[in-house]
Amino acid sequence: MGTVEDLRPIFSPKSIAVVGASRSPMKIGYEILQNILVHGYRGKVYPINPETPEIMGLKTQPSVLAVKEDIDLVIVAVPAEFVPKVMMECARKKVKGVVVISSGFGETGERGRQLEAEILDIARKGGIRLVGPNTLGYKDPIDNLDAAFVFGMPQKGEIALISQSGALCVGMIYYANGEHIGLSRVISVGNKADIDDADLIDYLDADPATRVIAMYIEGIKDGKKFLDSARRCSKPIVAIKAGRTAAGSAAASTHTGSLSGSDAVYDSAFRQVHIQRAYDVDELFDLARALAYQPAIHGNRVGIISNGGGAGIMIADWCESLGLRVPNISKKTAEALRPHLPSISTARNPVDVTGDARFHRYHATGAIMLNDPNVDALIMTCVHAGIARPREYVGAVIKLVEEKRNLKKPIIACWVGGPEINEVVQDLRVKNIPVYPSAMRAAKAVRCLYDEGKRLELIDKKPAKNSG
Ligand code: ACO
Repeated sequence: MGTVEDLRPIFSPKSIAVVGASRSPMKIGYEILQNILVHGYRGKVYPINPETPEIMGLKTQPSVLAVKEDIDLVIVAVPAEFVPKVMMECARKKVKGVVVISSGFGETGERGRQLEAEILDIARKGGIRLVGPNTLGYKDPIDNLDAAFVFGMPQKGEIALISQSGALCVGMIYYANGEHIGLSRVISVGNKADIDDADLIDYLDADPATRVIAMYIEGIKDGKKFLDSARRCSKPIVAIKAGRTAAGSAAASTHTGSLSGSDAVYDSAFRQVHIQRAYDVDELFDLARALAYQPAIHGNRVGIISNGGGAGIMIADWCESLGLRVPNISKKTAEALRPHLPSISTARNPVDVTGDARFHRYHATGAIMLNDPNVDALIMTCVHAGIARPREYVGAVIKLVEEKRNLKKPIIACWVGGPEINEVVQDLRVKNIPVYPSAMRAAKAVRCLYDEGKRLELIDKKPAKNSG
C-alpha cells in the first residue's frame, strides 16, 4: 500500500478504540473520548479500560483484544511504560493505525529513546502506522472528528496544519479561529517516530479538502524523504522551522527529542523545494491565507491604492525591498484615474485617493488599476483616519474581488488602525479576502503569491511523469 492508503485508517477511521479512556474528567483519556463523542463521530467507538464496565454510557473492554469487530484506529493514553504492551495487543488485533498521546519517550533521555524504539519496532513488525508518541492527536473539522485532547474545533477551511508542538497547535487553532481562517485537517505529530512530515505532505497533497499545507517544524529526521515529498507536492507549503538558535535548538531537544540542525541548511533546502518560510504564527497564517484564497502571479508589479499618502509610501517601500516593483502606470490608466481624483492628488502609483474618499472613488480607482496590464497585483490600504470611510472601503474591496475574479490578479487589503477596525474588517475575513494590519505583512503576502507563481511555472516545465 502507498502512504495515502496506509494513513486512511488513521485519518478516516470507521472505528476507534481509546486505550486509557478514563472515568475521571480530569484525565486526558476522558477528554479524548469526550471530544470524539461530542462532535458526533459516526463510526464505532470502543473505550478500553480494565477497571470499569462503562464510561460515558459506553460499555468498556479490558483490552483491544476483547473487541470482536475490526478496529481501524487506536488512540493510546496510558503511561509510557504500558504502551509497548498495548502496541503488542494492537499488532495481534491487526489494527492499522495507532496514535500514541503518551509522553515519556525520546524527548526524555536514553530510557525514553529505548521505549520509543521498542514501540516503533512493534509497529513495523505488526504493520501498524503510528502517529506520535508525545502528541496531542488530531482534529478534523471537515469530517467532524476531534481525536485529540484539549477542547476546541477549528473552523472548516482549506488550510491543513501540521504541528510538532501540541500546545502551540492549540494556540494556532485559536489564532486561526479569531482571524476567521478555516482549517481542513490539524495534525499534531509529536516525536514523529514513524509518521513524519513527509508522509503527511503526501497524504494532504491527495486530500481534496486541502489547498495549502502549513507546518510548524522543530526537526526533521529523514531529510531526503522530506525533500522528495515537498518537491513532488502539487500544493503550496508554508513552514515555520523553529530551533534556529542555540537556545531554541536546546529547547526543541527536550520538547520533542528533535535535532534542530543548521538553520542555514534548512533555509537552503526549503528554497530548493519551494517551501515558503515563515518565522512566527501570524506570518504562517498570513502567507497560508493568501496562498489559499488569492491567485498566484507570474509578474511582480504591484498597484497600490491608499486613502493616506504615508501608508501608500510604506507599502511601496516594502514591495521594492522584497523584490516586487511598483511600476509607473500607463498614460491611459492615468487619464482614466484623473476624473475620480481630487485636484490635490496626482494620478500615479501609489494612487492616493485622499482622506475624504467614499465608496465610489475607492472602488473606481481600484478597478482602473486592476485593468492596467502593467499591474499584476493590487494592494488596497485604508488608514483609519477621522474622515475615512473604512466600512465603505471594505465594501469596495469585496465588490472588486467579486467583479474582477476573471483577471486572476490578487487583491490584498491592508487596514491600519488597531483594535478599532477589527469589527469592520471581519467582513473581509469572513469572505477569505486577505487583510493585514501593516504594510510589511501586505507586501509579504504579494511576494509569496509571486513565489508561488514561480513554483508553478517550474512544475509546468517539468517533463510529465512516465506512467509506465
Ligand atoms: N489499558 C486500558 N486502560 C488502562 C490501562 C491499560 N493498559 N492502564 C491504565 N488504564 C486506565 C486507568 O485505569 C485510567 O482509568 P481511570 O482513570 O478510570 O482509572 C486510565 O487508563 C488512565 O491511566 P492513568 O494511569 O490514570 O494515566 P494518566 O491519565 O494519569 O496519564 C497519560 C496517562 C495522559 C498518557 C500520561 O502518562 C501522559 O503521557 N501525559 C502527557 C501527555 C502529553 O502531554 N502528550 C503530548 C502533548 S503534545 C506535545 O506537547 C508535543
